[in-house]
Amino acid sequence: MPDTTGLTARPLHPVFAAEIHGADCARPTPELRAGVEAMMDRYAVCVLPGQDIDAHQQVAFARIFGALENPPRARGSRGDASQKFPPEIFPITNLTEAGEIQKEDDAARQYRLANALWHTDSTFRQTGSTYSMLHAQVIPPAGADTQFIDTRAAYDALPEAMKKRIEGLRAEHSIWESRGKLGGYTPTPEELVARPPARHPLVKVNPNTGRKSLLIAAHVSHIVGWPRDEGRALIDELMEFAQKPEWIYSHVWRVGDMVIWDNRCTMHRATDFEDSKYTRDLRRVTVREYAAA
Ligand code: OGA
Ligand code: MN
Repeated sequence: MPDTTGLTARPLHPVFAAEIHGADCARPTPELRAGVEAMMDRYAVCVLPGQDIDAHQQVAFARIFGALENPPRARGSRGDASQKFPPEIFPITNLTEAGEIQKEDDAARQYRLANALWHTDSTFRQTGSTYSMLHAQVIPPAGADTQFIDTRAAYDALPEAMKKRIEGLRAEHSIWESRGKLGGYTPTPEELVARPPARHPLVKVNPNTGRKSLLIAAHVSHIVGWPRDEGRALIDELMEFAQKPEWIYSHVWRVGDMVIWDNRCTMHRATDFEDSKYTRDLRRVTVREYAAA
């Protein structure tokens, strides 16, 4: 049944994630915003298939949901100095600026490899993000699915004692924490200064629904005010708990898919593909949680 905004949902998983029909990203309207937000509050990951839009249209669509991030570029990444895309576009690609497949030691490739860790986008920023919106241009013939975890379901299933233990805790998140774990990307001193850590509550509340979720994953270094080891142990325990197969949805990409996920209540990760052989080229836009700062 279409809802009042004309959108229909086909669930992709028993717990979360749905394919949404009736949405045309090329025609951003307040009604479309309301409809997609309602679907996102329910499903946390929404797949809008068959979206035939360019980078500018993707930015215009995302803007109806709020202010957008200007992603920093990894050294050597495509889009660095190019006029090809608007600044809000974050290319998720294995192509160089010149359109060739990245060499193994390409800095942008090293940076991208950390996407294979369970993570949330932009929790290393003071102002986090609500939605990431990833649009597929070129997909390799096999592999490279993106996996998602519903951290609302994980939170709900925690033992009461654990819910009490983590209530009110804050965690410190840093981009260099995740980049240090995988990929071997070494930041320059300027990058270190430009991107300091940020602190966020461990338990996030969706202001529309009141539902709680775990805000954890690869950027977290420690719990604020706790000895490092103890904080790490707690984070590791929560991460392990959250990775139950029944809370994981794996998205198999098709060209034209626009996948929107709520960074406040999901984690995601990239999976392998033959990245020295096949092209994988997607474009991400990220909506800021608050307009300020
Ligand atoms: C991202 C991301 C995973 C993938 O775009 O933020 O983590 O499979 N992508 O490309
Ligand atoms: Mn990501």
